[in-house]
Amino acid sequence: MNKLLLLAIFLGLAGFCTATITCGTNAISPDGTNCYCQHGFYGTDASQGQTCQLCPNNTTTTSGTTNTGPSINVGACNQCISGFYVTAVANAASPGTAVQCQQCPANSNTSSAMTALGFCTCYDPNAAPLSSSVITCTCKSGYKGTPTTTAGSPSTCVANSVILSIFAALLSLVFLF
Ligand SMILES: *[C@@H]1O[C@H](CO)[C@@H](O)[C@H](O)[C@H]1NC(C)=O
Ligand SMILES: *[C@@H]1O[C@H](CO)[C@@H](O)[C@H](O)[C@H]1NC(C)=O
Ligand SMILES: *[C@@H]1O[C@H](CO)[C@@H](O)[C@H](O)[C@H]1NC(C)=O
Repeated sequence: MNKLLLLAIFLGLAGFCTATITCGTNAISPDGTNCYCQHGFYGTDASQGQTCQLCPNNTTTTSGTTNTGPSINVGACNQCISGFYVTAVANAASPGTAVQCQQCPANSNTSSAMTALGFCTCYDPNAAPLSSSVITCTCKSGYKGTPTTTAGSPSTCVANSVILSIFAALLSLVFLF
């Protein structure tokens, strides 16, 4: 067989083998070249023999490669998991602090994973916005009733104007008879 052909096959196999590198614990190599800590983990070194640390409960990392490197600390855990809102943002300055997260009140959720201060959104489109002082889902001003307890369902808050018109209709019936 042609020696050059054999060399080409050898080089091809060697290239294939180096493409699949082994990373450290809780780490992956999306590009086959560099190791990064997995989503939800952080670390200074994700290479073989090293271990990425798990983010604190209810927190995670934003996807990508920003959770791995020499200056990375727990501050890389800058995102609340779904269903939790941010009460204090993460601080990446050494030694670093993770984002502080609080579970959404009943009948509310986060629309996307939060990294900035904010609040959850009630399922009911006619509920009052949640805030530091409004911590339960209630119908907003001008509405009465109980907000829906099912995500994506129509509002169960009833406008005061609707209640008034029903009352007026009943009243007019009384006068009719
Ligand atoms: C995570 O959330 C749960 C449920 O709300 C809570 O009990 C727990 O204290 C939280 N953990 C941290 C570290 O904030
Ligand atoms: C984290 O949450 C898990 C369950 O999700 C629980 O078993 C564990 O005790 C929690 N740890 C802390 C530090 O809150
Ligand atoms: C909250 O919203 C997320 C998507 O942002 C969804 O995956 C999750 O199931 C929702 N949780 C509840 C309790 O509806």
